[in-house]
Amino acid sequence: MSAKSASVVGLGKLGLCLAAVLAMNDYRVIGVDVNPVTIDSINKGISPIFESGLQEIIRAHRRRLHATSSFKEILSTKVTFVVVPTPSDDAGLFSLKFVERAMDSIGRELRTKKGYHLIVLVSTVMPGSMDHFVRPLLERVSGKTCGKGFGLCYNPEFIALGDVIRGMREPDFILIGESDKKAGLKLARIQKQICKNSPPIERMSFVNAELAKISVNSFVTMKMSFANTLAEICELMPGGDVDKVTNAIGKDTRIGFRYLRGAQGYGGPCFPRDNIAFATFARILGAHAEIALATHKVNLSQVHRVLDIFRKENIRPPAKIGVLGLSYKPNTNVLEASQSLMLAKELQRDGYEVLAFDPTMGENQKEILSLGINCAEGLLSCIDESDVCIIATPWKQFYDTDLNFSNKIVIDMWRFLNPETTATLKYIAIGQNRNLDSKFPPDYLEKLSEVEKIPAV
Ligand SMILES: NC(=O)c1ccc[n+]([C@@H]2O[C@H](COP(=O)([O-])OP(=O)(O)OC[C@H]3O[C@@H](n4cnc5c(N)ncnc54)[C@H](O)[C@@H]3O)[C@@H](O)[C@H]2O)c1
Repeated sequence: MSAKSASVVGLGKLGLCLAAVLAMNDYRVIGVDVNPVTIDSINKGISPIFESGLQEIIRAHRRRLHATSSFKEILSTKVTFVVVPTPSDDAGLFSLKFVERAMDSIGRELRTKKGYHLIVLVSTVMPGSMDHFVRPLLERVSGKTCGKGFGLCYNPEFIALGDVIRGMREPDFILIGESDKKAGLKLARIQKQICKNSPPIERMSFVNAELAKISVNSFVTMKMSFANTLAEICELMPGGDVDKVTNAIGKDTRIGFRYLRGAQGYGGPCFPRDNIAFATFARILGAHAEIALATHKVNLSQVHRVLDIFRKENIRPPAKIGVLGLSYKPNTNVLEASQSLMLAKELQRDGYEVLAFDPTMGENQKEILSLGINCAEGLLSCIDESDVCIIATPWKQFYDTDLNFSNKIVIDMWRFLNPETTATLKYIAIGQNRNLDSKFPPDYLEKLSEVEKIPAV
């Protein structure tokens, strides 16, 4: 048996990447999943998941990575990472139903294990889950005491889909909630082995780690909604250009550039739901998380901001709208909570004929068609067949390819198109107001009497 061994329960978007990263760091890895298709595919050396670099790692380290449905096999390893889904429930909190099943299966196997075993929950959970649900469940089912027979850690990830492997190997920091010092130390050692960049490791109690995890995404979404608010202001301000503003203020080290690009609202499987969970948790405690609520409200209004452009520009059905990019961000095929997809759906509902193209279209075609959105055969035909083209998800190829938008109206959510190529187009850039003819300052001081006064105290 190889000296370094680990098991990973849940081989999805995050878990399979973790298994692969462990394997590339000389760990013998047992992957456990309930999905036979996933298991079969991994054992054939084929990644069932679209993630940059993952296929290559699986192929290169296949010898050390074995997938199975048998929880018994985790007993041959020293540590088990649990990366199962924690979907949001109706109240906006994270459900523990998959965690419960997985921990129950692990606990049963641990009953027969002689030595110490470390269990690490990676899935995102609500504060209080580790102390009040996971630890008691494992103790009850295994018949062992946490801290003696087994150790327990919470070790959430802060990665972004499309960049998961790099994110796992070069994180800004590692967050560890621990049942006791021994458990935290063991996990810190493993993390040091798999990270290339010696990140700072923050070790703490379960509740603080659980809160820290959702706070990160809540803060980052706030930044995005702030940038989108700036974009809206710039659109209404003659000569306004959100990039000029964010490129300047991002240089302030208190602010920083990342996620400060006034463009599209945020989406995906983590950002919206983590921010809602943060706000809901605060409410349950009786704290006031108005910032998180405002962030969410701003995000919900982003698609309508684009629809307003259609009204302002008098673009009406049956105009044919080409939506370029549907995934919630580039380099992933994930459509969950995608603002591009939401926009396409709203346009279709408003009576426009919507034609969409995404580089990962094939895998999602059925779902897209079921929404009444037509799938273009390729990028060029999507543009050719449309009256209006929206550059929605900023895939690199949309800006690298010399695309012919002549005679089209182009709405560029991200302002990546070369200004030289847009000079002759009807080009609308989100976050910019190129109307330099209108007088500025406008009569806004006269409007002061019309707006609701914001009390100073
Ligand atoms: N995807 C992300 O970008 C991301 C980022 C940070 C945190 N997270 C968190 O990580 C967790 C997992 O997310 P994901 O995107 O990898 O989910 P996923 O849906 O892609 O994968 C989950 C996997 O778990 C398997 N599974 C379910 N129940 C199981 C069980 N009882 N035993 C064994 N396997 C089981 C499923 O078959 C699936 O393969 C979630 O809590 C999520 O919030 C995800």
